Amino acid sequence: MKVLGIMGSPRRGGNSDLLLDQALAGARDSGAKVEKIALYQKKISGCLDCGKCNETGICVIKDDMLSIHKKILEADAVIHSVPVYFWSMTAQMKAYLDRWCAFFDGDWRIHQFYFRKMSNKKMGVITLCGAPDVSVGDPIIKSFKNTCDLSGLKWLGSVRASAFLKGEISKNNRAKKQAYQLGQKAAQR
Ligand SMILES: Cc1cc2nc3c(=O)[nH]c(=O)nc-3n(C[C@H](O)[C@H](O)[C@H](O)COP(=O)(O)O)c2cc1C
Repeated sequence: MKVLGIMGSPRRGGNSDLLLDQALAGARDSGAKVEKIALYQKKISGCLDCGKCNETGICVIKDDMLSIHKKILEADAVIHSVPVYFWSMTAQMKAYLDRWCAFFDGDWRIHQFYFRKMSNKKMGVITLCGAPDVSVGDPIIKSFKNTCDLSGLKWLGSVRASAFLKGEISKNNRAKKQAYQLGQKAAQR
């Protein structure tokens, strides 16, 4: 089993990063091979809506998302971790998610080339917010859950946590345990 972690915060060692590490530790301890991609280290442009990928399955923008597409296709599960920025996801994560367009045909059905690889894949998400009410992360969870359903992926679930300062989440044992368990679930066949 391969579990891919996608980190959508620009803060290295921040709350999203720490909880994603917990999730990947859970997956690794359950026997999975894990890999983490920090989006702030990648060059990912916004989708152009040119429609070419709907025909070919390949995005025309030659940036780091092309190799990430390949890693998603090779993974058995993808876990995203992202903070809330202005009631939404970070720009880095949104650019990444919009580029999932390449997995679809013109009718928003999963591309026939990718159907076999996508249909058994699992997806989950971790959200962080500065506000004490963790439901501030719900619009992000909805974006990922809808993408999951549209792509025919299996939904692993979500972890919502609240923290403001960099690394503050390390004191939240409940959130760390939930993230670890999400990773364990991702590693199950
Ligand atoms: C530009 C910006 C916008 C933010 N917007 C929100 C927000 O709308 N709601 C909220 O609860 N927290 C907001 N926050 C706080 C972050 O979600 C919070 O600090 C989070 O723990 C950061 O996670 P990280 O350490 O992974 O980067 C914002 C932070 C920044 C820098």
